[in-house]
Amino acid sequence: MHCVRNITDKIFWIGVNDRRLELFENMFPLPKGVSYNSYLILDEKTAVVDTVDATQRKQFVDNIKYLLNGRQLDYLIINHMEPDHCGSIESVVELYPNVKLIGNRTTFTFFEQFYTSDNKANYQILGKDEVLDLGENKLHFVPAPMVHWPEVTVAYESTNKILFSADAFGTFGSINGNLFMDEIDFDHELLDEARRYYTNIVGKFGPQVQSLLKKASELEIKTICPLHGPVIRTSDDIAKMIHLYNKWSTYTPEEKGIVIAFGSMYGNTENIADCIAHKLAINGVKNIKMYDVSKTHASYIIADMFKYSHMLIAAPTYNLGLYHGMECLLRELAALNFKDRKVAIVGNHTWASGALKTMKNIIENNFKNMEIIGETLDIKSSLKANQEAVIDELAQVISKSIKA
Ligand code: FEO
Repeated sequence: MHCVRNITDKIFWIGVNDRRLELFENMFPLPKGVSYNSYLILDEKTAVVDTVDATQRKQFVDNIKYLLNGRQLDYLIINHMEPDHCGSIESVVELYPNVKLIGNRTTFTFFEQFYTSDNKANYQILGKDEVLDLGENKLHFVPAPMVHWPEVTVAYESTNKILFSADAFGTFGSINGNLFMDEIDFDHELLDEARRYYTNIVGKFGPQVQSLLKKASELEIKTICPLHGPVIRTSDDIAKMIHLYNKWSTYTPEEKGIVIAFGSMYGNTENIADCIAHKLAINGVKNIKMYDVSKTHASYIIADMFKYSHMLIAAPTYNLGLYHGMECLLRELAALNFKDRKVAIVGNHTWASGALKTMKNIIENNFKNMEIIGETLDIKSSLKANQEAVIDELAQVISKSIKA
């Protein structure tokens, strides 16, 4: 059966949920599922804004057919050509062969790269500043390249002041009835997932997100309709999300605190991390997040590294280099252009030292503005009681830096 919701009397959410998918992009765990949002505008002309992943197309098509109730679909607006949103375009064109596909040149280049159906007759490229007039609703298109692919646009409906924001302001997590952010205890239920979504999916493109935020600041926005997660419709929620996006896209920590990420084969490096964590706590440090890189998916660790001001990375030597769980984490973090943090580093080795050198090299050569704090330590196999002063000293330096 159809499952749709009003956003205004003429604009509807026609999205779908995926609670079965294990990994988003076959990489990122989805313990709370994910929604693929799509919107239908039922005006003098009719328009759908983006489609959904091909796996969910049945529900999506049911929703469109129900609302159109025999009317034709005039426009399908393609703000983003990633398959989680463009996966059902062909189904829409099959159902409504005269539909105009609204996109830019790159949109249609990507469409032809992904799909084989010839829909050239349906393409409509809007000129700069051209408005798509549907009747009461009027759509203006704003390019948002690299948020999160190069062809991305966002669409602004100027009568109701609604921003269809593509991936921006999205979050992991299915829509469980409560479509609007103000109906959810967002900070407890979804904020961590929103951060994990942003930092891992869009995190690399901070300057481009900044550019979109600047363009958005020139618009009066009453509602944000993203492609994933809840619709944002109160001024407080809009301000909150823009504040968070400003922090995340400038790589500014939200809070003072430390993420301790360790790799450990037999518990000895974990013991070092534990000893330092307890000393930090005794020194009054409150926000201490600790992760075993072999156990926790990197996306969670990365999200917290964006959130907090400091990092401690600790890992043993492996194959004369760096323990691979830690190497993967650091390489992934570097690929996201992560920067501007204070980092303490502890290596461990038994007969040949490789971990410390590799971690130091990656931090110094693959990131911008990462300050290594305290003495970098290279422990031999396990920490001994007579080395406590060294650990005390490192914990003091980190604590002072966090509290500064
Ligand atoms: Fe939700 Fe970039 O796709």
